[in-house]
Amino acid sequence: MTALDPVVAPPGTAGPDELLSVWLPSNDDPVRPLMTLSTVSSSGYPDARTVLLSEYDDTGLYFHTDSRSRKVADVTANPRVALTLLWPGRQLVVQGDASRSSAEEQAWAYEHRSRYLQQLSWLNTASFAALDGAARLSQWAEFGHEHPSLTPPPTWTGFVVRPVRLTFWEGDPDTASRRTEYRRDADGAWTASLLAG
Ligand SMILES: Cc1cc2nc3c(=O)[nH]c(=O)nc-3n(C[C@H](O)[C@H](O)[C@H](O)COP(=O)(O)O)c2cc1C
Repeated sequence: MTALDPVVAPPGTAGPDELLSVWLPSNDDPVRPLMTLSTVSSSGYPDARTVLLSEYDDTGLYFHTDSRSRKVADVTANPRVALTLLWPGRQLVVQGDASRSSAEEQAWAYEHRSRYLQQLSWLNTASFAALDGAARLSQWAEFGHEHPSLTPPPTWTGFVVRPVRLTFWEGDPDTASRRTEYRRDADGAWTASLLAG
């Protein structure tokens, strides 16, 4: 065994669900964590962008977006994705498989978006982006006045990423950083390892 070989965490080590619940805010916290969502694009290059973590549960981590977006084309062709969440002194990298979340979940997530993001989901189009500054301001304000309450646009969609691997990185100014990694096998059982940071 070399110094970089993983060490299997001792029995009784908390599973990923327990650690996730410590690291992530509760689903009703209005301050949502940001994640870098990495996908495999049709060109073969990886692609990446920031999305909000809408919520998480026993199934996985959820994000919401526009069904016409590049990321949706990517995950439709190849559901294998990575999520990277970063906090001061901490990083969580998740590899997993993305699938559409239920209609009920998508509706719940829309209700919990801020009013600004609800409106953005209606106006986030290429034609709106092409308007000049004055028109973008006036059309945004006009839409807001005409729609005091909003329901999801038909393009609103959501995905859940079911993890196959979660890597929790923790820094420590007084000693070496370290990662705790969980891998899910084909039967759904988790194995935990300790890795060099
Ligand atoms: C802080 C921040 C949060 C964002 N949150 C989301 C989000 O939750 N959903 C989303 O579709 N786009 C979000 N975006 C925009 C995406 O990063 C991206 O520009 C957009 O979704 C188009 O990505 P695509 O062309 O790769 O599909 C966010 C951007 C930033 C900077």
